[in-house]
Amino acid sequence: MSELSVYEKQLKKKQKTGIARLIEIAGTKSVYLVMTVLLSIVAVIAQITPFVTVYLLVKELVANISNIQAINTAYVWQLGWITVAGIGVFGVFTYAALMFSHVAAFNILYEIRVGLAGKLTRMPMGYFTSKTNGSIKKILHEDVERIELFVAHHIMDIVQAVVLPIISLVFLFFIDWRLAIGVLIPLPLAMVAQSSMYGSTGMKLYTEWQKKLAAMNGTIVEYVRGMPVVKIFNQTVNAFKRFSDDVYAYRDLTLFWVKTSATSFTALIVLISSSAVFVLPIAIYLLYSVPSVDYGTMVSTVFLFLFVGMGISLPLYKLLYMASSLTQIKTGLEEIDGILNSKEIFEPEMAKEPDDLSVEFNKVSFSYGTQTVLKDVSFSAAPGTVTALVGPSGGGKSTIANLIGRFWDVETGEVCIGGINIKDMPVENLNNMVSTVFQDVFLFFDTIEENIRMGNKEASFEEVVSAAKAAQIHDFIDTLPAGYKTLIGESGTYLSGGEQQRVAMARIILKDSPIIVLDEATAYADPENEARIQDALSVVLKDKTVIVIAHRLYTITDADLILVVNEGRIEETGTHRELLEKKGLYGFLWDIHTKARDWNIDTDKEEFL
Ligand SMILES: Nc1ncnc2c1ncn2[C@@H]1O[C@H](COP(=O)(O)OP(=O)(O)OP(=O)(O)O)[C@@H](O)[C@H]1O
Ligand SMILES: [Mg+2]
Repeated sequence: MSELSVYEKQLKKKQKTGIARLIEIAGTKSVYLVMTVLLSIVAVIAQITPFVTVYLLVKELVANISNIQAINTAYVWQLGWITVAGIGVFGVFTYAALMFSHVAAFNILYEIRVGLAGKLTRMPMGYFTSKTNGSIKKILHEDVERIELFVAHHIMDIVQAVVLPIISLVFLFFIDWRLAIGVLIPLPLAMVAQSSMYGSTGMKLYTEWQKKLAAMNGTIVEYVRGMPVVKIFNQTVNAFKRFSDDVYAYRDLTLFWVKTSATSFTALIVLISSSAVFVLPIAIYLLYSVPSVDYGTMVSTVFLFLFVGMGISLPLYKLLYMASSLTQIKTGLEEIDGILNSKEIFEPEMAKEPDDLSVEFNKVSFSYGTQTVLKDVSFSAAPGTVTALVGPSGGGKSTIANLIGRFWDVETGEVCIGGINIKDMPVENLNNMVSTVFQDVFLFFDTIEENIRMGNKEASFEEVVSAAKAAQIHDFIDTLPAGYKTLIGESGTYLSGGEQQRVAMARIILKDSPIIVLDEATAYADPENEARIQDALSVVLKDKTVIVIAHRLYTITDADLILVVNEGRIEETGTHRELLEKKGLYGFLWDIHTKARDWNIDTDKEEFL
């Protein structure tokens, strides 16, 4: 069984959410994070030094304002050096903290991405049809990236936003508690303003905003993907209704949200930077009404308080912006855990080995959601034979093919290989045993060589080449600028449908699995390409159990068994000859088919006449 990632193990224990979950995730790199926190604390303390030294300097200057000669220059120099040292320590420690936090962040990101990618391979195919590619991409890309933001930057920011005000306030209270209250007053008020912004209505709006944003992202991706259709039918942006609806809905909600939170937000910003408004009146009051207060000392003290008051407001600003980004991180994290928590394709407790390479359906019924698409399907494909599935479009042929690869699990009946229910085989063994070629071949944005090697990661270059030769695609690859190293999709290197199919065939040849399922593998074929694919197939299919779906009936007249699939049932079975004699659905399809071919030949003739 595949190894569980650290994150999956955590999930198995108990599900945490929000910041607690973030800390848990970050905790896998705890040494780096403890270092980040400790170094940040030292950096913050060093950050305060200039405030203190400037305060002491001003105090010294003011005390000797009437007699400049009396200023203790050695002391002033000392303060100067301490300031420089403080700034130096701040710089060095901030740098070190950032290094640690980034190393931690990128390691965590890497592990989460690998964990998610591994998880996706263990999910049933049904998962991918129920979600759009855009939404899975968003989770793997953007949601994971937000964790980087938290670990690499926010941890430091939080330390700063907590430690700096606390140390500063303690220090200020130590100097003059009355003025310190002036610095303190706006802070609880700011908290009230902030809680009204992020209170329950605020949060509801935020969640709604996230949803609207996701919907808009989804339609934008679809719009771009569907550009050929949009262009062909001369549509404008506005005609693609869902696109404009989603963009407008997003705009309207954002505007509403801005309107409702504008007051609290403004109040918050004003309050955070308003310590002077409270400090100055207190200072004036003290000067006029408390006789013991000395004018000179008060000036330097007020300076200090104003400076430090501003110093406190900066990290608080950061905290303010962080609050919204933390909410985004939290929802992103839920999406990530959503994937990690999803039900995997079920693995058997006791692995069973198939006796032979037969494929058998035993009273299989199957539905995608509510629509039943297979009803009581039974058939048996003997080892080393070719079984063809034919029938009208939408009858359920591809569904049967996909069930053999266990892309979905059947709820009624069983799909067996060598007498063993495929649910009782480890998924890895099944995947090694069965190769499916889909109608739409998927090639990765990678070299041709690597695309072929998908069939067998261990294959040598020579093996890749001989697979390509067998698949009749080697000569074509040779004509490409970089041969096997040509990147597919780069600088105009795109393969035609038929070429892609032959690359897919090379993959399958390389994989060399004993059971092969082909879903309309000849769909793109022109006569020459088709002949080549047929040649390639004869190599691939030798001595294997083959299930082939064909729309061109003449390609499967030699099949050992033909199953005619119609409306989710197997309506007829037999060889080509037997089925023709029956004069049933197959006979009907064959008639249409031969007529269509004759018609083709006729038109061809006309062209040449
Ligand atoms: N992922 C899916 N989710 C929901 N319904 C599906 C899905 N795939 C196929 N169907 C439905 O199942 C039915 C059978 O589809 P299937 O693709 O098996 O037909 P087919 O015989 O391969 O048709 P064709 O010859 O056109 O390829 C169809 O009605 C289709 O709408
Ligand atoms: Mg199909």
